[in-house]
Amino acid sequence: MKQTYLKICLIIASLFLINTMQAQLVQKISVLANKPKSEIQSTMWGIFFEDINFAADGGIYAELVKNRSFEFYKPLMGWKETKQGEAKGKILILNRGEANQANQRFVRITADAEKDSYGLSNEGFRGMGLIMNKQYNFSVLARKFGDGNIRLKIELVGANDDKIGTATLEQFTDQWENYSVSLQCTATEPKAKLNVLLEGKGGLDIDIVSLFPQDTWKNRPYGLRADLVQMLFDLKPGFIRFPGGCIVEGQNLSNRYQWKKTIGSQQDRQLILNRWNNEFSDRSTPDYFQSFGLGFFEYFQLAEDIGAEPLPILNCGMACQYNSGELIAMDQLQPYIQDALDLIEFANGSSDSKWGKLRAEMGHPASFNLKLLGVGNEQWDEQYIERYKVFSSAIKAKYPYIKLITSAGPSPDGNQFDYLWGELRKLNADLVDEHYYKSPDWFLNGATRYDNYNRKGPKVFAGEYAAHSKKQNENPESQNNWESALAEAAFMTGLERNADIVYMASYAPLFAHVDAWQWRPDLIWFDNTRVVGTPNYYVQKLFSNHRGTHIIPILSEGNVITGKDSLYASATIDKSTNEIFIKVVNTSSKQIPFELNIEGVSVIKKSIICQILTGSNPMDYNSLDNPKKISPFEKSIDMSGNKLKASIEAHSVYVFTVPCKKL
Ligand code: AHR
Repeated sequence: MKQTYLKICLIIASLFLINTMQAQLVQKISVLANKPKSEIQSTMWGIFFEDINFAADGGIYAELVKNRSFEFYKPLMGWKETKQGEAKGKILILNRGEANQANQRFVRITADAEKDSYGLSNEGFRGMGLIMNKQYNFSVLARKFGDGNIRLKIELVGANDDKIGTATLEQFTDQWENYSVSLQCTATEPKAKLNVLLEGKGGLDIDIVSLFPQDTWKNRPYGLRADLVQMLFDLKPGFIRFPGGCIVEGQNLSNRYQWKKTIGSQQDRQLILNRWNNEFSDRSTPDYFQSFGLGFFEYFQLAEDIGAEPLPILNCGMACQYNSGELIAMDQLQPYIQDALDLIEFANGSSDSKWGKLRAEMGHPASFNLKLLGVGNEQWDEQYIERYKVFSSAIKAKYPYIKLITSAGPSPDGNQFDYLWGELRKLNADLVDEHYYKSPDWFLNGATRYDNYNRKGPKVFAGEYAAHSKKQNENPESQNNWESALAEAAFMTGLERNADIVYMASYAPLFAHVDAWQWRPDLIWFDNTRVVGTPNYYVQKLFSNHRGTHIIPILSEGNVITGKDSLYASATIDKSTNEIFIKVVNTSSKQIPFELNIEGVSVIKKSIICQILTGSNPMDYNSLDNPKKISPFEKSIDMSGNKLKASIEAHSVYVFTVPCKKL
């Protein structure tokens, strides 16, 4: 009896103790709304676009025909001779030679197909994604060859060879002319193909065979895939960096990115090999080229459409240092510098200027208002500094308002990193671009990375980052798991807290095709008809959609919240909308109760909105088949005056939006 009594006492005592301990674990958090620190740049959260993983051709550039102008290394790559019935014929590859350097090859189809048809079939980029009841615009540059009477039959073909759209073009002349026709598609097919077949007896020369959905982004002919651009638009990005990445550098200087070759008529843009074609032997992609259908004009237009500052990156006379490391000699650097000066004129110059006129002729008389420009990508060593100095003095002399992005190399620390920062600090560079592809733990520990950074001199551009988790399976999207996204969210509270020095940040890479990727993880995955935002995408979106104009302190028991007890937090105020945004990240497997007090301002609503992003398993990810497994949902939370009591669930990101009176 006595023993039982003792046991009961013990249980009661331990329950009391646990209760008291739990009470002690309630975090007391204060947000000091009336102590705004530095301003947050409008460029704080941006996007990094590189033509890697079929991001441009086969991705956002909505062209469905692969190798449309027969300029791939193998001229008929992506094409197949196709005979229907008794038809006979011949395919020849012809070269125009000097007549058109940018587009030398075309195909001659000769057919004997009085009853049936003969020609070519195009497989698209891992198939063509076609949607039922949608219109598709077919076009071709063609001329009749010899006598004879031929028609061109165009067929959209589904998986079982069923015809899901047909049209016919005829009355060809013996001069090159553009012919076009629109087709309605009768079924949804992610891996369709296109037949272009001659009927009758005779010959036809064809080139630039093209098929586009009619409903591209803003319905622009030869435009961009609307669903993919929508994903970017929804991020409300502060900037868009383009066209990369290592693609800017080229494996050697001859296949570096040259913006002047990407503007003007799309048909005259000379195709080159995409450097990611053969970069990784285990992810070789022999059919990866750059058609430049998405060129610098389209990039600027895209930036404008999604409300982002354009940030082009230019080659600085150095090829990729992981590849050839080829350098242009210092006394030959001038054309590279001229390219930079001309680019600024192309973007901003009046229609009277040489390059501004071209922009106006392409349909954009107004300036693109370029303010940022990158000199080189992931360059290092004194060769970079030497070249940067020449670029900088020429650009600043003519366009002092342009802010230049400079390189801190490929690693976020180490000798080269220290050397580059040291030199760039001496040169008073504008922004230094840091890259980090690291483990989730690195990101968790890195939430304080910028707390003690030297505030004098250049600002930071966290230009490429992503947490690389080891937890993945054969599904391409799987490496974008919740573990990685949560670690990035924790890290991003540190970026935000240090927005006085971190002016820009972007996850990398942006896009990847599930059937044609070279690099993962990536922010957004897609196939030919679908797109999925990763958990990492939703983290970016939460931060970018709740940016605020100024940082405000958020403290627990007077201390900055940087990961103690697995809790991370940052807070901002938007002085134009009078909203406070509080981001809280719990990376532990336990719920964290807290009491939050907003000081120095009156909260004007009794109930506020909290966006929650959470996952029960660190390995969870969003796939094309299950795209919303980890995606934000809203909860309304009651406030008591300026206070709220809540708990942040395990492995979660919470963003509170608190409307308040004007400060
Ligand atoms: O984002 C992929 C690559 O990573 C970029 O092209 C390069 O800058 C970095 O090494």
